[in-house]
Amino acid sequence: MAAQFRHIPAAKHHGPRTDEESLSWVREGVSGNKMAGVLWMVVLSAVLPMISRADDRPNFVFFVADDLGIGDVGCFGNDTLRTPNIDRIAANGAKLTQHLAAAAVCTPSRSAFLTGRLPVRFGMAGTDRPLAYIFLAAPSGLPRSEVTFPQMAKDHGYQTALIGKWHLGLNCKWVGDHCHHPNKFGFDYFYGFPGSNAPECDPDNVTAGATGKFAADRIYTRFRVWEVALSVFLGLLALKYFRYVQWKTVIVFSVVGWSTVICTYAFWANGRQFNCVMMRDDDVIEQPYDVSTMTPRMTLEATRFLEERKAKKEPFLLEVSYWNAHTALLPYKEFRGKSRHGLYGDTVEEMDWSIGVVMATLERLGLTNNTFVYFTSDNGAHMEIGDAGGWNGKYKGSKGQGGSEGGIRMPTLVQWPRKIKPGTVVTEATSQMDIFPTLAEILKAPLPQDRVMDGRNILPLLGGAKKPSPHDFLFHYCGDRLHAVRYRPRKGKVTWKAHYASYNWEPGTTRCGVDRLVCFCDVPFVTWNDPPLLYDVTNDPTEDRPISADSNPKYREVLDVIMKAVAEHRQNLTEVPNQFRIPLFFPRPWLQPCCNFPYCNCQEKVDLSPLKITAQ
Ligand SMILES: *[C@@H]1O[C@H](CO)[C@@H](O)[C@H](O)[C@H]1NC(C)=O
Ligand SMILES: *[C@@H]1O[C@H](CO)[C@@H](O)[C@H](O)[C@H]1NC(C)=O
Repeated sequence: MAAQFRHIPAAKHHGPRTDEESLSWVREGVSGNKMAGVLWMVVLSAVLPMISRADDRPNFVFFVADDLGIGDVGCFGNDTLRTPNIDRIAANGAKLTQHLAAAAVCTPSRSAFLTGRLPVRFGMAGTDRPLAYIFLAAPSGLPRSEVTFPQMAKDHGYQTALIGKWHLGLNCKWVGDHCHHPNKFGFDYFYGFPGSNAPECDPDNVTAGATGKFAADRIYTRFRVWEVALSVFLGLLALKYFRYVQWKTVIVFSVVGWSTVICTYAFWANGRQFNCVMMRDDDVIEQPYDVSTMTPRMTLEATRFLEERKAKKEPFLLEVSYWNAHTALLPYKEFRGKSRHGLYGDTVEEMDWSIGVVMATLERLGLTNNTFVYFTSDNGAHMEIGDAGGWNGKYKGSKGQGGSEGGIRMPTLVQWPRKIKPGTVVTEATSQMDIFPTLAEILKAPLPQDRVMDGRNILPLLGGAKKPSPHDFLFHYCGDRLHAVRYRPRKGKVTWKAHYASYNWEPGTTRCGVDRLVCFCDVPFVTWNDPPLLYDVTNDPTEDRPISADSNPKYREVLDVIMKAVAEHRQNLTEVPNQFRIPLFFPRPWLQPCCNFPYCNCQEKVDLSPLKITAQ
């Protein structure tokens, strides 16, 4: 299959070779010995077209939505939420109906997307909880040893930019080291927020909906560090009373314990100030940020980036990583009250507008034909927050449930007119981790050889090849717990899925109780199945009918293959430091990004007038 895609030479220098440079080779060649000159001409006539094709290198645009469910998008069956611009990508390219995130929570899912690897391989999986990076002033984040596909593109002469959400860490040892910053992972340019949009970013704390607010309150009250500190303190006093310890011990432990408590409380209570931070490259440009103008501002940045690349004739990779539709739900004023699905719907329609502007810019600049455009979401809709969250269509489960289809089956589209026929539908299992190897194939770049890559090249499937998924197995994790395994035999049509864990959903729903915010990854949120429950997700995508030894003669055989694969997979995992372990999870005041010190308060002034902002 690889041969079908034209060889695109990787430029060693940045930017394509100019005609002038190429011609100077010809002149040198002809002015030498006649025979050599003829030889040169022969060689050049073969090589020149290849060199000029360096200009043909495709561009890449990635749109990544936040917490958007597969049931929220028009081309995936939603007839009331209006997403015409997203749907157009499907019509002009390929719709992937079984495209899976590697985790059902932002931080691990996004790290897998960028690295092509399972988060459990590099410590971004968490042990049950916490499962994500929460405090900007915490030192956890994507380890520097990881290689990303934007880095690969950059190494091949591409100009790269991340506009919007990062959520993979910021600092390690001091506030400016930016050891986990996007600029350190292959993005030449970063404009956006290093953390996440979160309920606390709404100054009035109302847009997460009643259930969202309740859930948010719960998570704050559940966080009982001070109770632990108080108990330790009282315990130490008791030990002192019975002369087991000295005063020195009591004092040291108390000072450490209580400063942790005070500091953590300060960071919880002022979450908006400390976590809702916006940056341009290394500078903090807005704190706390205004969510409601974020999408238009990002849109403007994206169009400017494209215009600049066009003017400079530079190949590019752009990721537009939206906060939409994660709470706080604060769309730009033009979009409020315009959808049929409340603030949530307004937010999705705002994102669709923005995607329309970026796509129109590509068209205006004549870049559509050779730009690879990818649209996806980082994890499924958050069902526990009711109206403030989205919809996973017919699929069971919610954000957080790494083994559930609702948590990981993402609305995904790819457009690339040069190679992908309009109206292509890919029903075979594919993964967000496949993007890295697929780009490597397109760029003819070698994949890192010193590590396991979990992604596979899906270019043949996108090109319409009728073949099984390149994945024999896909391992579906919740934190660092393996919850389910997909198995696609090379023969036949069926994809199987074995559930090692089932979620303890609220009766009549496929989510955990509203008071629990999400299903976490172990008991009491899940029940472990032994033997695992087996489903045929090709014929039963909603997983209503578990297969038993009696109902299907294949049961034993399929389970045996899966269990053997799991044993092998486990053997190939190595122990790595967990980035979300409790000591790394807590904020450190000296890592806090802050503009206009000590106020930590500043605003970006932006003129949005170049944009035509209109809701439908
Ligand atoms: C884009 O590709 C289509 C189909 O291959 C072709 O008809 C059209 O002229 C191309 N447009 C540009 C601007 O190259
Ligand atoms: C469309 O999306 C909205 C918002 O998430 C949801 O309430 C509605 O049920 C969806 N409609 C369909 C047909 O899936």
